[in-house]
Amino acid sequence: MASSAMELSLLNPAAMRHRAARPSSAGLPLARRSAVRFRASASAAAAAAPPKPSGPKKRGKTEIQETLLTPRFYTTDFDEMERLFNAEINKQLNQAEFDALLQEFKTDYNQTHFVRNPEFKAAADKMDGPLRQIFVEFLERSCTAEFSGFLLYKELGRRLKKTNPVVAEIFSLMSRDEARHAGFLNKGLSDFNLALDLGFLTKARKYTFFKPKFIFYATYLSEKIGYWRYITIFRHLKANPEYQVYPIFKYFENWCQDENRHGDFFSALLKAQPQFLNDWKAKLWSRFFCLSVYVTMYLNDCQRTTFYEGIGLDTKEFDMHVIIENVHISADQPHNSEDLPCCFGCREP
Ligand SMILES: [Fe+2]
Ligand SMILES: [Fe+2]
Repeated sequence: MASSAMELSLLNPAAMRHRAARPSSAGLPLARRSAVRFRASASAAAAAAPPKPSGPKKRGKTEIQETLLTPRFYTTDFDEMERLFNAEINKQLNQAEFDALLQEFKTDYNQTHFVRNPEFKAAADKMDGPLRQIFVEFLERSCTAEFSGFLLYKELGRRLKKTNPVVAEIFSLMSRDEARHAGFLNKGLSDFNLALDLGFLTKARKYTFFKPKFIFYATYLSEKIGYWRYITIFRHLKANPEYQVYPIFKYFENWCQDENRHGDFFSALLKAQPQFLNDWKAKLWSRFFCLSVYVTMYLNDCQRTTFYEGIGLDTKEFDMHVIIENVHISADQPHNSEDLPCCFGCREP
């Protein structure tokens, strides 16, 4: 997943509920529980504007201030997932397509891509004031969103092993990618003398429950949106190198291909579950998710215009471009019914 991925915090349909997840901080040393909170908004971040850290010591972040728009961790009904991917129950599963996707994931195109260099620290040291603050927030939020994908995919890989080993292995390989993305972003935070304590957050943070159907909608959209966000920023900075203020963006061209492959996998999953695409209820839900995801992304980004302006982008234009491109590719996804319109399956408005 990517920076805006799985930030569907505005969604609250009746079928979703929050579960208190594994609050197990009791056994941890007190020092690890001391909170260093996320800033809630860009303006708050700018207003806080603490001085640059002077020493090499990193501050370990162990708590995130939850707001409506904070990237979340997700869980689902794994028993239903097992039923959905049982080839004896679901005859729509195209095992040959999943085999082909698995080979692609095994190729691991980005195995050697995420290698840092001294440019990172030097660029971070040059940043100060509101831009430095908003950059830190960008790294934190992106790391949390990528890590959210890692957790969900890792668990799905584990739970589906017996029912559908091929699908399970793809989930495991996607969790490999997301761990790599989250780790790279967390190393970026080290340039600012910070680090997210991801192990602690895994145990201590609340998880939001989505039914499998909603997981499919949300992750498909998040992965494809992630692709468009990364490639748009990459192309913009390639054309306007004077705004290349931090080298992480140079990695976005290959990085976004990971997100694109993840999205393609969810497209294949949706195709294997036509009941999630073809009836009127599914169409309403998918439209609701499209709208919610785009609105959430827009509200998030409007709070952070300092960041987008800092890399030479107009926030509104950037979001409109991402949304329009995403609507186009979503409409091109396979569709099993010709007579019913669907956000994921046809070109009807
Ligand atoms: Fe990712
Ligand atoms: Fe992804």
